[in-house]
Amino acid sequence: MGPLKPMRFEADVDDVIVAEGEIPPELNGGFYRVGPTWKRPALQEGNNGFPVQDGMVQALIFREGRADFRNRWIRTPKYLAEERAGRALFRYKDGDFGDWRSYGLGEVVRDQWTHGIPQGNNAVNVFPFAGRIVASGEMGSPPIALDPITLDTIGVVSWSVALGKSVVDPACFGDGAFTAHPKWDPVTGELYGWGYSDRKPYTTLHWCRPDGTIRSRELWDAPYNALTHDMWLTERYVVLPFQPFLVDRERIDRGLAIFGWDPSKPIVLALIPRDDIDAPIRWIEAGIEPEYIMHTMSANTDGNRLVLDGPIFDRPPFPFEDQVEFGKDFVPFSTGQIGRWILDLDSGKVTSERLDDRAVEFPRIDERFYGKAYRWGFLVAGENLWSLNTLVRRDVHTGAEDAYTIERETPVAVFEPVFAPRSPSAPEGDGYVIVPVSRFMENLSEYLIFDAHHIPDGPVARIELPFQIGWTPHGHWMDFSPEAPYAPPRTAASAATELPLPGGDGNGRGIASRAPLVPAHAA
Ligand SMILES: [Fe+2]
Repeated sequence: MGPLKPMRFEADVDDVIVAEGEIPPELNGGFYRVGPTWKRPALQEGNNGFPVQDGMVQALIFREGRADFRNRWIRTPKYLAEERAGRALFRYKDGDFGDWRSYGLGEVVRDQWTHGIPQGNNAVNVFPFAGRIVASGEMGSPPIALDPITLDTIGVVSWSVALGKSVVDPACFGDGAFTAHPKWDPVTGELYGWGYSDRKPYTTLHWCRPDGTIRSRELWDAPYNALTHDMWLTERYVVLPFQPFLVDRERIDRGLAIFGWDPSKPIVLALIPRDDIDAPIRWIEAGIEPEYIMHTMSANTDGNRLVLDGPIFDRPPFPFEDQVEFGKDFVPFSTGQIGRWILDLDSGKVTSERLDDRAVEFPRIDERFYGKAYRWGFLVAGENLWSLNTLVRRDVHTGAEDAYTIERETPVAVFEPVFAPRSPSAPEGDGYVIVPVSRFMENLSEYLIFDAHHIPDGPVARIELPFQIGWTPHGHWMDFSPEAPYAPPRTAASAATELPLPGGDGNGRGIASRAPLVPAHAA
């Protein structure tokens, strides 16, 4: 099971051990990550995908040269219902395949135990918004706000009632979809996100303000039911890519996985003016060969050209029926290389370039530069997607790279890097890169902190945890400095405006009860 071994306990490690170096005293904030792990065995035997598991958020809270580790289950409606029942409750239409097709993203086979309860686990990403951290699983449930200090589950975000369709039908009032990879305006704190569905309108765009107000636009002209996992935010546009990585629950009825890859469909870019999302959308058919960008790095505007950066795969790194037999293990993940799509705004012509041949993923930037011109990107590289071990800083202007390979006596898993600025007003890229490392063979973990300008020198601090942290795909930094925009409230868990969790009372009575639910551990 390696780095995917479930972390089945909550922990507080105050004043973590710094085995080498020193934690930079300027770091004043929280480093958050989220991932799927098992609270209890699944109801269905055999393969069970990550969406079936439960979400767990991990945090390192930095202050004055020390750090505290904390992790907590996300008290989703599913988690609370199963906690009260003392057993797993959910079965999924795609759960009986027993192989790589069993994602657990199909409709729930509803019964009295699960009626009215969203099925998602909110375990793909956690990001700062309006003084909270917000966990999103992209499909199957609305975003959930958490306290950035205690990690207590506060509740479903108040704006969930305005969210569009998901790939599964809403289980209750307020059950909608929201991306796991929103982008935000670092000055105003406004969040740009979307949801996707296999039913028209395939995509709904959302523009969320920190006061909880939201504007939405259904994209009735969206070309097809793409699983749009990420996007670019430029100075003027939200750039949503439609790539033929499809999501379609009817595929399950045909004995197929919910995800499909149809390279006969064109890659299409939607350019939506970010200051008026109701303005006309410019649809660009890219006319490039089939390929796939799972995660964007960021974008620059170069005269009349948009330069859209990110690792490019030949095809999505997921199994499809043309490549993997049913019942067989899935191993051959494809890998991506750093590249860019360049859109000429005058001609509408798109070109694709791959700029290097090494396998990279998890592109990140100094997020104070979301939606602005940027220079510095941070990624992890390795032989392939499952052996990433090298932190890379890339100058997207010149292509120059700095790198540091993380090696131990036994294999390790290096997770996504996250940038934390030296101060809220520091220049772009002036700060630290935090990299979680699972030493899973030894049941240990590390967090490595690099000075972003001196990555080849190795980490300035190496934090050790005496256990294996759970696998986490994504996370973000939240700055607590008083001068940082949208720092969290000084009083933890104060001024909560979020809705009580939908999903009923856990006894199958659903949202009709509208009973405010209290996080189980606080009851
Ligand atoms: Fe992602």
